[in-house]
Amino acid sequence: MTFKIAFLPGDGVGPEVANAARALVERTAKARDTAIEIDEFIFGGAAIDAGGDPFPAETKTACVNANAVFLGAVGGPKWDGGKVRPEAGLLALRKELGVFANLRPIIVPPGMEQRSPLTTDRAKDVDILIVRELTGGVYFGDRVEGRQTASDVCVYSREEVERVARIAFEAARGRSGKVTSVDKANVMATGRLWRAAVTELHEAEYSDVALEHVLVDAMAMKLIQAPRDFDVVVTENMFGDILSDEASVIAGSIGLAPSASLGAGGVGLYEPIHGAAPDIAGRDKANPIGAIMSAAMMFRHSALDDDAARMIENAVSRVIASGAGTPDIGGEDGTQSLAAKIVQALV
Ligand code: NAD
Ligand code: IPM
Ligand code: MN
Repeated sequence: MTFKIAFLPGDGVGPEVANAARALVERTAKARDTAIEIDEFIFGGAAIDAGGDPFPAETKTACVNANAVFLGAVGGPKWDGGKVRPEAGLLALRKELGVFANLRPIIVPPGMEQRSPLTTDRAKDVDILIVRELTGGVYFGDRVEGRQTASDVCVYSREEVERVARIAFEAARGRSGKVTSVDKANVMATGRLWRAAVTELHEAEYSDVALEHVLVDAMAMKLIQAPRDFDVVVTENMFGDILSDEASVIAGSIGLAPSASLGAGGVGLYEPIHGAAPDIAGRDKANPIGAIMSAAMMFRHSALDDDAARMIENAVSRVIASGAGTPDIGGEDGTQSLAAKIVQALV
């Protein structure tokens, strides 16, 4: 069977990092004797420019019928104030695929702790898996735009909380057996539902896993103070968005952080956690490692080929250990030269 990838480069640094990852995907598939087909489609701002719609019908059909969707990034100031934003296409894509669980690993590999802005002893051996709820909450509630008053409604159902908490508990069983659930139960009704649903699921089915609850403001502090205290962190959509950008810096740069978005349906969505980075776009400066590690996650979670994922991860580790890197992690490589070194290191 051919593994079909819908490839959406998007905007800003999106095409730069996505094409870097594409080279790795093609080489890895060849080495593993896996038949793949990569088809490129317009998405985000590029699709608004082409026809006014950030998620055109042809792109949607291709994504739904693929085995995996690989995305660079979308957005940029060019589309501010327009009728529709590129980001609306991304939310529609996530909803269409039903990918409610967004896995965002934050790992500081041995030797990389020196590149963290945290003290070396704090950053050493950090290995956190953030499980971000991705298709609910304030991102998808009723929205009223207004110049005097505006509102964004946050809604969660018990079912939405349980299904993402289940992913976190299952992941914890294969790791160090601990889940930190993050909410704002001291203020929000959705926070109290979140905490009750996670607690009750834990009691009923996952009492072998250690569970703690932390309020999101304290979590923002603790992540920096003692990141090694955390293993699996599960939280709602917006808190997960914010905390994962924050956590990415522990490893040295947002440019290093990958993600996989999974759901009940078969199609996985893979994208680095960073955005279109308009401040560095088109200058061969973006770190491609977040995108490349997202490709590794694609092999692991959608192609079910752990060896292929490890080939890519090992190549990245070797190249980072050699001192190579883009400027965000203190290196002198461009996007392309770093990606070429990682391709070279594939064995
Ligand atoms: P951003 O993530 O694009 O950039 C934040 C900072 O991190 C910038 O200084 C940027 O230069 C740096 N950075 C980001 N990626 C990097 C990389 N690979 N290597 C080195 N440095 C990197 O966030 P922003 O500037 O707030 O948003 C810009 C646009 O991107 C907005 O339109 C936003 O909506 C969009 N966005 C899209 C996604 C996505 O497509 N998944 C994610 C986040 C933001
Ligand atoms: C991300 C981004 C998106 C989000 C935006 C672009 C809609 O910040 O993937 O983290 O908020 O989910
Ligand atoms: Mn984000």
